Amino acid sequence: MAHLDVVVADITTLAVDAIVNAANNSLLGGGGVDGAIHRAAGPELLEACRPLGGCDTGKAKITPGFNLPARYVIHTVGPVWQGGDDGEPQLLASCYRESLLLAEAHACASVAFPAISCGVYGYPLAAAVEVAVASVREQLPGCHSIGRVSFVCFDEKAARCYETALGA
Ligand code: AR6
Repeated sequence: MAHLDVVVADITTLAVDAIVNAANNSLLGGGGVDGAIHRAAGPELLEACRPLGGCDTGKAKITPGFNLPARYVIHTVGPVWQGGDDGEPQLLASCYRESLLLAEAHACASVAFPAISCGVYGYPLAAAVEVAVASVREQLPGCHSIGRVSFVCFDEKAARCYETALGA
């Protein structure tokens, strides 16, 4: 089984096989981690995203990483938090599952996730972290190429939340 860890970093600096982008349905860029990834990858990333025709919430699409140290960017679209009774946990779990399936299909050994939906989309961090960890743990037995999954946080407070969920 893959090793799960928590990293406090800017995800755009990580030399992993794939970083995951918390994108929007257009896949044409935005703020937050999406904006940072597009800035660091360079304009070719936007050109690679255009023909993808957007992405449904809970799904994922993959592009090269261009100027990033990561080989691939997996773009997934998390749910906007509406209070929790609108399928948000299922959609968020699907983001992690679909991203790992794509990473596996591209023979990735290392994947790094940001806290999908926990910024502009308003998903409460502790609840999102539970979903993220459970979804990754559920998916990993079927992922043979993936040796390491990192949860990337901007701050120590978020990192502690993941560490608690991981039982670290
Ligand atoms: N590295 C790691 N984590 C980051 C970074 C970074 N460089 N930048 C932000 N975060 P958000 P969402 C954290 O808002 O809630 C965009 O406009 C941040 O602290 O980026 O899924 C898209 O285009 C937070 O914990 O994503 C969509 O419209 C987490 O990443 C919308 O935002 C996610 O915050 C998606 O909203």
